[in-house]
Amino acid sequence: MIHPDTKSRIFWETYIFIITIIVSIEIPLRMVLNYEPDTWLVVFDYILTVSYSLDIIVHFMTGSHIGIKLVMDRKTVAKNYAKGWLFIDLLATIPFDLLANQFPYLRLGKSLRVIRLSRLFKLFRVASFLSRVRRNNIINPSVLRLIFLIFWILMVAHYIACGWLYITGIPESSDNVSAYIQSLYWTITTMTTIGYGDITPQNNLQTLFTIGIEIIGAGMYGFLIGNIANLIANIDIAKAQFREKLERVNTFLKYRNIPDALQNQINAYYDYLWESRRGYDEASVLAELPLPLKTSVSLYLNREIIEKVPLFKGASDAFIREIILHLKPAVVTPGDYVFRIGDTGSEMYFISKGSVQVISEDESIIYATLSDGSFFGEIALLLHSPRTASIRASDYCDLYVLEKKTFDNVLSRYPDFATTIQKLAEARKAEIDQSKKE
Ligand code: CMP
Repeated sequence: MIHPDTKSRIFWETYIFIITIIVSIEIPLRMVLNYEPDTWLVVFDYILTVSYSLDIIVHFMTGSHIGIKLVMDRKTVAKNYAKGWLFIDLLATIPFDLLANQFPYLRLGKSLRVIRLSRLFKLFRVASFLSRVRRNNIINPSVLRLIFLIFWILMVAHYIACGWLYITGIPESSDNVSAYIQSLYWTITTMTTIGYGDITPQNNLQTLFTIGIEIIGAGMYGFLIGNIANLIANIDIAKAQFREKLERVNTFLKYRNIPDALQNQINAYYDYLWESRRGYDEASVLAELPLPLKTSVSLYLNREIIEKVPLFKGASDAFIREIILHLKPAVVTPGDYVFRIGDTGSEMYFISKGSVQVISEDESIIYATLSDGSFFGEIALLLHSPRTASIRASDYCDLYVLEKKTFDNVLSRYPDFATTIQKLAEARKAEIDQSKKE
């Protein structure tokens, strides 16, 4: 059985979808314009019949998503297919035109042409095609809905134009192409409620048809405008929400007369949030996921920090999992103090991006500059003492915070890690003590 999400399967489905669109446009046209198919169309008919037949075989050989379940069992797939689309797919394989050409006695005149319309049913497969594209997250869902909304409207306009041509007939003075264009023009002006009135119904049937299209048109127009406005607003929902949040913050800052410099700093911080993570608060997005999914996403998101921090190199999966799951992201802006010397410490920090300075009380000594992959704040946790130095951000920093409780927990369970970090802390502390003596 083929997995339904493999690239070749999606490619095949897209191919079937495209030829179905072409045939769905051509069939009603041939019906109303009554032209004889040229060689190309006959070849296309052959290709279609072969492709549709192969498509049935492919369906039997491919697993399918039934509800939310992926079914790969051949029998269940076949049963499900037989209950659903098989009949329509089989009907679509029958090359009525080719048969009529081969066996002239089979010519059933107009009724044969109507049977041919059964191929149009395949177009309704677009719904399953759509849900596949959505599931594979190929295009923004709002853009996708917009594309398909426009697609359906154009298809409906095409069918109505063909219907109008069918009941009005082709004027003698006009060729097929102009007749179709005129008919499409009538459809669009009527459907969009513009109605210039240059083409008007000439008998009862045409008047009734026009009334029908006017009613459909008025409803569709309202539906369309509402939907398009909604879809466009949703295309970049993250940006819209972020902008709204920023506006709220700025209104508050102005209302409380926050100094301009501080306002600029806050805005710069939000700019950074947008640039670095599209404004999403990672923790709250992850909080909604079940634990196994949350672990996988966290591991993926934090893969950089796992690679960057030498302390994690060669550590066991269980250890990394334990730490990663408890890391909380935080951002500090340039010049900010993460904490000051003498503060009580209840967490340690890993630097994912950016750099910080480890500085003395009077800020005259910079003990070290720490950057991507380094950590700080471990001494206070290990020795249960106040912070031995102040930490100031030199630029925008993406940090990960590990709470004391998790830190203690991990230390007690992973003695190797405890020893390494203890040694490092002692060396750092000695360096500070040494410089104090000097
Ligand atoms: P803590 O004492 O909790 O807070 C200040 C932190 O600065 C300290 O933990 C260490 O993580 C870090 N630190 C102190 N001294 C040095 C040093 N010499 N080199 C690098 N980091 C240091």
